Amino acid sequence: MIVSILLAAGKGERFGSKKQFLTICGKRLIDFSLKTIEDIPEIDKVVVVLPEENIDLEIKSKKEVIKVVGGDERQESVFNGLKAVNKADIVVIHDSARPFATKEMFLEGIKNVREGWDGSITAYKSVDTLKKVIDNQVIQTLNREQIYVIQTPQTFKYEKLVKAHLNAKEKSILGTDDSYLMEIMGYRVCVNKGSFLNFKITNPEDILLAEYVCEKLLKKDG
Ligand code: CTP
Ligand code: MG
Repeated sequence: MIVSILLAAGKGERFGSKKQFLTICGKRLIDFSLKTIEDIPEIDKVVVVLPEENIDLEIKSKKEVIKVVGGDERQESVFNGLKAVNKADIVVIHDSARPFATKEMFLEGIKNVREGWDGSITAYKSVDTLKKVIDNQVIQTLNREQIYVIQTPQTFKYEKLVKAHLNAKEKSILGTDDSYLMEIMGYRVCVNKGSFLNFKITNPEDILLAEYVCEKLLKKDG
């Protein structure tokens, strides 16, 4: 059993509104990911995590859909999603704020976990040089060959991700992604192929890029 948890319970503080419900190219942002997930036969069920005040939101999918209320932090929203999944072998976590994740990203993650990895996260090698800077002073230059930009979908063995979340809760550890919680457990996580175009809509200017990409993709598909 493979379940996907689609996160849509954020407040969009940096963006200025709940971006997941915004419409681009005539479609709500959340519906881009719902459609991609719907087209993946390997995924049996979708858990959509929503803000309490939006729990009645209409969700269209041919898959079985469970709606749950999120928490104040992304990590809590994932945990609420995990609790709503009774039984699963594999769970795929995805941010609804990334409308351009592809079917291939989901499938490669699922394949990697089926082949024995505890987790597989979508990533691409950084094209920019990254440096550690503290108080405006450059401390260290990271080896770009080993630096990856991390995205979602992130695919995990269900039982291990639950254990990783329980451990984080017990120790009050808050991570920006689920993979971090797995890593500190010593679980083995690999990467699957991501893309710059799978960017996360975070700030208001990102919507311009999203509209542009969306129009180009529509033209390509149709
Ligand atoms: N998310 C969630 N529950 C939260 C926080 C975030 O489900 N408590 C979801 C968001 O809806 C988004 C994804 O996690 O799809 C990535 O989070 P982010 O881009 O940080 O979105 P927001 O938290 O909404 O934005 P901000 O941090 O600017 O408030
Ligand atoms: Mg956030």
